[in-house]
Amino acid sequence: MSALEDTAREASVNIVVDGMEVVASRDQLLIDACEAVGIYIPRFCYHPRLKPVGMCRMCLVEVDTGRGPALQPSCMISCAPDMVVSTESEATKKAQDGVLEFLLINHPLDCPICDKGGECPLQDQTMAYGPGESRFVEEKRHFEKPIPISETVYLDRERCILCDRCTRFAKDVAGDPLIHFIDRGSQTEVNTFPDEPFSSYFSGNTVQLCPVGALTAKPYRFKARPWDLEELTSTLPNPTGDRVNIQTSRNEVLRIQGVDSDAVNWGWLTDKDRFSFEAIGHPDRLSQPLMRGQADGSLDPSGDELIATSWSQAIDAAAEALRSAIEHGGTAAVGFIGGARLTNEDQYAWVKLAKGVLGTDNVDAQIGDGLPAELVVGLPRATIEEACRPGGAVVLVGVDPKEEHGTLYLRLRHAVLEDGLPVIELNARGTGLSPISAARLHARPGDEGAVARALVAGSVPDSVGGVAQDQIEAASALLTGRHVTVIFGRGSLAHQAGPVVDAVAAFATLPSVSFLPALRRGNVHGALDLGMAPGLLPGRTTLEDGRSWFSSAWDQVPLVRGRDTAEMLEAAADGRIETLVLLGADPLGDYPDRAAVASAFDKVSNLIAVDLFVNDSTVEADVVFPAAGFAECTGTHTNMEGRITSLRQAVTPPGTARSDWMIASELAIELGADLGFDSVESIWAEIEELCPAHAGATLELIDALDDGVVIPLPDELVADRGDEHDPDAGAAGPDDAAETHDAGGEGEAFDPVTDEAGYVEVPMPPLASFTAPEPVPSIPPDGYALRLVARRRLYDEGTLLEHCPSMVGLADRARVELNPYDLDRLGVGDGGDARLVAKAGRLVLPAVADPAVPRGVASVTFRSPGADVGTIIDADDLVTDVRVDTP
Ligand code: SF4
Ligand code: SF4
Ligand code: FES
Repeated sequence: MSALEDTAREASVNIVVDGMEVVASRDQLLIDACEAVGIYIPRFCYHPRLKPVGMCRMCLVEVDTGRGPALQPSCMISCAPDMVVSTESEATKKAQDGVLEFLLINHPLDCPICDKGGECPLQDQTMAYGPGESRFVEEKRHFEKPIPISETVYLDRERCILCDRCTRFAKDVAGDPLIHFIDRGSQTEVNTFPDEPFSSYFSGNTVQLCPVGALTAKPYRFKARPWDLEELTSTLPNPTGDRVNIQTSRNEVLRIQGVDSDAVNWGWLTDKDRFSFEAIGHPDRLSQPLMRGQADGSLDPSGDELIATSWSQAIDAAAEALRSAIEHGGTAAVGFIGGARLTNEDQYAWVKLAKGVLGTDNVDAQIGDGLPAELVVGLPRATIEEACRPGGAVVLVGVDPKEEHGTLYLRLRHAVLEDGLPVIELNARGTGLSPISAARLHARPGDEGAVARALVAGSVPDSVGGVAQDQIEAASALLTGRHVTVIFGRGSLAHQAGPVVDAVAAFATLPSVSFLPALRRGNVHGALDLGMAPGLLPGRTTLEDGRSWFSSAWDQVPLVRGRDTAEMLEAAADGRIETLVLLGADPLGDYPDRAAVASAFDKVSNLIAVDLFVNDSTVEADVVFPAAGFAECTGTHTNMEGRITSLRQAVTPPGTARSDWMIASELAIELGADLGFDSVESIWAEIEELCPAHAGATLELIDALDDGVVIPLPDELVADRGDEHDPDAGAAGPDDAAETHDAGGEGEAFDPVTDEAGYVEVPMPPLASFTAPEPVPSIPPDGYALRLVARRRLYDEGTLLEHCPSMVGLADRARVELNPYDLDRLGVGDGGDARLVAKAGRLVLPAVADPAVPRGVASVTFRSPGADVGTIIDADDLVTDVRVDTP
């Protein structure tokens, strides 16, 4: 017998359950071991993602460990050798009867009006295991019902069975111990502290966890009965790609429930993700195309109004705007901003239209708030599971998972507290993980690269970038001998991406390291993987490497690298871009430098927007197309790991709104080309065939695996496809490619290599790899100024949240957070007004003392109600310094 088999034998135990021989793991809870072989033991308090507490006793079973049978809670005992278990004995049944009778003593007879009715374990188990009738005639206890305990959650204490699930989740999982038991005996109740609501980003999870109707969610209360609901498993379009069940009734999304995906979200969701479905059916949704016109309803390009029009008129106008821009200024005269909201298939369709039909590389899914695409796609990727694995270490660079990636935060929090994972923060200010981080290196904004290089070096003669020498050396020791996962993002919009790039480049030199890019916008990782960035082509390949390959399938491929969003806005303001297309993007709200966007929009001749709602930017557009959104279209999504999972259509889009790929296809036809797509499946087939990173990731494979697939697939899973591309399979042959390559008038015409039969012979291009640029210079702080940090938080004034009635008003009002030392030094009282004077402008904001903000830093939140932080940021500056005084 091998050593491996010996170990496996030692780790397993033989038990007998209801007369059946069962092999279980030695530390497995009895309740789980029984369930694994199809024997369900009733339970209320037990939940596989929470620590067992043995509160309810519903899981009592008779267990004989050699000393005679005794009733034991199966959620509290581990399997041991030769255990004999009876889940159906008389004693077990009597115990179950008794527990249910006690639970129902004070339980109201609410089932007909209870949201849990029809999916209630208490109802079900009373029917299956409980006594036929009650022996109690006494008055039940009464509480005011229900009471709101947060903006989105109601508590009905009469229905609570004191299972401790909500309180354990809040304390152990979310780290927000704001809901707890009070009083004793029959008066014990769950409640919040006086005057302290359950204001947790994760409160909705307690509603899903509550086994009865004691906790209910405002957006779902009294909306439907479970038997009226239809359910589809899908993926939320967020960067973690949380798996969810979408529940609908009569073509309306009524509830989103987290799915326990081992790989990703473990069933958890942030409240923002759980409740943002309210925006789907909002009456303000765009339902028909709009064009400029007059108040009397007539179309007029110089009109002040946006008026409803037909699809054919809108498509004609948009195609003409693109055509005329290219006629006047070449392919560089059009640009596409946005696309991170879309499905992978929508993104590919727009990329094919922009790069393969129009020949422009001016495409950027990030709105000046992200990181260079080559950095994101060009580094070895970690999965969330690998990042959280015991024995490793995590470095956070410029990212606050609690504010930006809630379920990743919960996974990291669990790994730190349960598995001792050391987390090292390299951020400009404290994050939600600071209280449990092993080291907090608060680099001076702009000096992240210098601190990272010192951390990698291990020993430094002095402090670096505002971080003390001993702090750097202690943090460096934590990395030694461990596999390091670097989770990086764009934590502050008040300084450029360069310092984060520097830091990541420094960590790339570690001997054992992988990366988890944590950009914050929807399906942004899918967008970059599919070429929605200048210099990239679909499949994580570069324009240079992939040009030959894609030329053999597309009409053309851009000849020169295009512009990112910042460069497009600058070019538009200079009159070099004539037509801008916004794909689910609101640069006026989201781009860090508002003045730059305003100048571009003033100058651009044609602004075309594709969106769900009218927002600050679409209201300026000449043509607006209504798009289908989450739950309204089928497709796939890519998360930060590169994990591709399915999205399902649960309801129909409003009015004539349609999927983005259809809009791109119609525009292509109007422009005299054919994208060649007639379904989502046909788009994916082309992606899987052409894109190097997506090779082998068929829809069948993605659908067959609960957790989808992570690209690129291992070689053994990639079907043998040969390394040549048959041009007959694509939209155009090599001759077409050669003819159309210099359509924009920029650069040399591409000359494809052909064999004797005239077919293109090109190997599939390699995946992009990241090359570290020259480090950005350190900019010494002005002695009188504070360095600005502009971070994003979970709740803001974003368009989606503004259309979710339950979450409007949850965003904190704008304020400036300062270290108490600076607040005192500057003579600004806590809560008093402070004036922030920057090169780009000035703002007056309430000042608040916050020890999580290091000295010398002023921290503000981007897109908070009450102030437009974009007015004091100049996107051309590497960092933003502000003078702070009293107004
Ligand atoms: Fe009925 Fe269950 Fe609601 Fe109690 S929690 S009133 S048993 S549906
Ligand atoms: Fe359990 Fe629900 Fe009561 Fe919380 S409110 S203790 S989850 S029954
Ligand atoms: Fe075991 Fe509650 S489920 S005691």
